[in-house]
Amino acid sequence: MSFVPSRFALSRRGFIGSAAVLSAAPMAARAASGETAAPVPVNPLVKQRADAQVFRHDDGYYYLTGSVPEYDRLVLRRSKTLAGLTTAEEAVLWRHEKSGPMSGFLWAPELHQIDGKWIMYFAAGPSGGGEDVFRIRTYAIVCDGADPMTGKWSVLGEFQAPWDSFNLDSTSFVHKGIRYFAWAQREPGIETNSNLYIAPLKTPLTLAAKPARLTVPTLDWEVRGYKVAEAPAVLHRNGRLFMTYSASATDARYCLGLLTADENADIMDPKSWTKSPRPVFKTCKETSVYGPGHNSFTVDEQGRDVLVYHGRDYEAIQGDPLFNPDRHTRVQRLYYAADGAPDFGVPVGNGPLPERFISVANPQALLAHDGTHLLGGNPTLAQTQFRQTPGRAGKESLMLSPILLPDHYLVAKKDGSVTLEKDSNSADFALRSQFVRLEDKAQGQLRFAAISTPGKALGLADGQIRLVRSRDAAAYWRAD
Ligand code: AHR
Repeated sequence: MSFVPSRFALSRRGFIGSAAVLSAAPMAARAASGETAAPVPVNPLVKQRADAQVFRHDDGYYYLTGSVPEYDRLVLRRSKTLAGLTTAEEAVLWRHEKSGPMSGFLWAPELHQIDGKWIMYFAAGPSGGGEDVFRIRTYAIVCDGADPMTGKWSVLGEFQAPWDSFNLDSTSFVHKGIRYFAWAQREPGIETNSNLYIAPLKTPLTLAAKPARLTVPTLDWEVRGYKVAEAPAVLHRNGRLFMTYSASATDARYCLGLLTADENADIMDPKSWTKSPRPVFKTCKETSVYGPGHNSFTVDEQGRDVLVYHGRDYEAIQGDPLFNPDRHTRVQRLYYAADGAPDFGVPVGNGPLPERFISVANPQALLAHDGTHLLGGNPTLAQTQFRQTPGRAGKESLMLSPILLPDHYLVAKKDGSVTLEKDSNSADFALRSQFVRLEDKAQGQLRFAAISTPGKALGLADGQIRLVRSRDAAAYWRAD
């Protein structure tokens, strides 16, 4: 790695006159209007935790549970920040039994507080080998106290499913004061691995009504390897209920589907739910995330929606993907299209979470790229997401890289143009790829000053991304 010649080593004097305060370490979260910054999560957030559920409880803590590779225990992590889950202590709440129906695989736990009690739902099967280990049913354990990390957990019982058949991946949510249960189950007479069902709950393990079958895997992207609709997760936003689910085999073909219902519809009527004809989230070779799925939803420290999911960072798997340990927990911002529907974009790949940069002077335009050409616009979400990585000209320097071209960086050329280039290991690249983030927290604005060209910053002017005078209106961006 080449370093910037000392004559260009960053000094505050180089930016004298800027009213903005130099940003905190580039890796600190971008806080708007003075909110306390939280560390920026780095993907993978938690290694080898599949089927992750992350939620921010009203105690202000984030909780994470998920399947462990051994499928032998139910675990829970807690952290004040989303990023803190990476290194948070992990408690083992319960281990599979020595024999009987819960002595084998433990899959996809979810933690819910129901009528003041902490209840963890999970799928479990017997041990002993053969096909019997896939005699998977849904169970729950319950905590005897207010703190799920330290309380004593015991078996509450088995979910009274409508059929005695393979069922798993349950979730629970409240809508219009009614608590619902959604889960995946194989229904006698339907030749699929699993379909999605919903019903109001009478008690934590019994239904208050006959379930509604919301979707059966029939589309080509739902039946690759196995005919699967599983892992429902519900988000209520913009007057609608959005229910994601996972489809196909758990290898690189695993992906997310989406059902949408109006918030005032009868959500027990399958006709109230519209299925997306295409997957909304799937493998992305450009960012090296394969088989993204089994998601949940949470919010970041600024209350912005976050998608939680698992995915591998390689495609080829030896043996049964179900026993490959590298489905890591990942998170990323969830954005919305103009019509209020979620825009899942692509899985953003390993590294610090990316951001989008909206031109203050022209808010319809974001920093974007088309291949190696930088532009001002809003082509697709993925083309507007850029990752900040530590720079090479002092601790406040940084480099900017698009998630779809993770080996390319913004480079400020001598003629004032800004391009996307691979690291050529030249002193010129090392100098011209270095920027400093100048945040004006009060205004919620920022600039990227070019270290190679004092007095100039990254700007959108006349439709072009280029260097402009650092105090020009074109130099100001809003991070989102
Ligand atoms: O990770 C174990 C199981 O694999 C999960 O319950 C399910 O979502 C997936 O098929």
